[in-house]
Amino acid sequence: MKAIVALILLVQLPIHKALPAASPPPLGCDDPESEAAAEAAVSYINGHSHHGYKFALNRIENIRVIPQGLNNDIIFLELDLLETTCHILSPTPLENCTVRSFTEHAVEGDCDIKLQKLNGQFSVLASKCHSHADSSEDVTKFCPDCPLLVSLNNTEVLKAVTAALNKHNSKTADAYLKLLEIGRAKIQYHPAHIVFVEFAVAATNCSAEEAKANVEACQLLPDNQSNFGFCTATMVILPSDNLEVNCQLYGHQPGVTYSPPAQATSAGLSPGLVTGFTNHNLRVSHNNPSASESSSSEFPLLLAKPVAKRAVAEVAQHDKVPRPVGFVPPPPPPCPGKIRYFKT
Ligand SMILES: *[C@@H]1O[C@H](CO)[C@@H](O)[C@H](O)[C@H]1NC(C)=O
Ligand SMILES: *[C@@H]1O[C@H](CO)[C@@H](O)[C@H](O)[C@H]1NC(C)=O
Ligand SMILES: *[C@@H]1O[C@H](CO)[C@@H](O)[C@H](O)[C@H]1NC(C)=O
Ligand SMILES: *[C@@H]1O[C@H](CO)[C@@H](O)[C@H](O)[C@H]1NC(C)=O
Repeated sequence: MKAIVALILLVQLPIHKALPAASPPPLGCDDPESEAAAEAAVSYINGHSHHGYKFALNRIENIRVIPQGLNNDIIFLELDLLETTCHILSPTPLENCTVRSFTEHAVEGDCDIKLQKLNGQFSVLASKCHSHADSSEDVTKFCPDCPLLVSLNNTEVLKAVTAALNKHNSKTADAYLKLLEIGRAKIQYHPAHIVFVEFAVAATNCSAEEAKANVEACQLLPDNQSNFGFCTATMVILPSDNLEVNCQLYGHQPGVTYSPPAQATSAGLSPGLVTGFTNHNLRVSHNNPSASESSSSEFPLLLAKPVAKRAVAEVAQHDKVPRPVGFVPPPPPPCPGKIRYFKT
């Protein structure tokens, strides 16, 4: 054990040398200060995400604070997030967004974030996220007939989205809508064959009536008039055909823009359809221009194994104060923190 600790210290020393001998007690993951940092981080992540949905905090997995001076800390956070039902273009504030339940086939986000807290103000220096859907097997185990996420370019999904948008556009007296991206798609096979889709849309400069004459001339509104929206649709294939669609426009939101994924072409139904993935990845949707490279080397402390971290923490505690014989050292600060929604 001693050898392991020594080895860990040896490996970590070059990184750790900034750690002063008399550092404050480490923060626990559920401390209000940790929660404030996590809130700033989640807000940053959602603010810099361009596709898919807003994510909410499920759990603070880890936190490390490296004091830099008076009222100046560098904070490393490791967060577990969950997908909400609010599209990233939705004006609904995160606290009003519903986190998707486990049986809705949850999508989890994992983020490493490096923040600076200077005079009480947080700023994100670097972040690295990725997201993935829970395994279909796990969902099926708890809910055998639940619809499961399928690829966003699945042919039945494309068919459902096209039919739903056409149906909406054929019935509305309002603006003619174009697809921006498919956000989510699920298919259920038993006891009925049903396709569930969700997609982001935008108003064009045509009314639905004008579009009938010449749909090619209908353009998305310019940024200073943009009007984004969101549709959900349910297409029953068996036992009998049925299609229901519900679209909502958010109204113009100054400053909110949408940029199609880099690889998407501007023609027709392509954005969001080019991927063979079941969910928009936070990794590709998120970048931090102020941090040159959000590589894993930005997050050295969080990459250490939990055992190693605890060992280092205990050694640090031990060095600080000589303890009377028989003194039981306090437990390491509680990390990971509490689960807000469900275990992933
Ligand atoms: C968010 O929820 C709060 C409390 O339920 C409510 O008062 C507020 O109007 C909601 N805001 C929006 C934009 O829905
Ligand atoms: C929409 O904008 C395009 C391009 O600017 C234009 O050619 C077209 O006439 C406009 N359509 C309507 C109905 O205003
Ligand atoms: C939007 O911008 C264009 C070009 O800059 C301008 O001509 C137009 O008046 C603006 N529209 C609104 C609603 O601000
Ligand atoms: C979906 O995308 C994947 C990856 O780009 C591709 O291999 C697959 O053929 C696509 N499927 C359909 C139905 O277009």
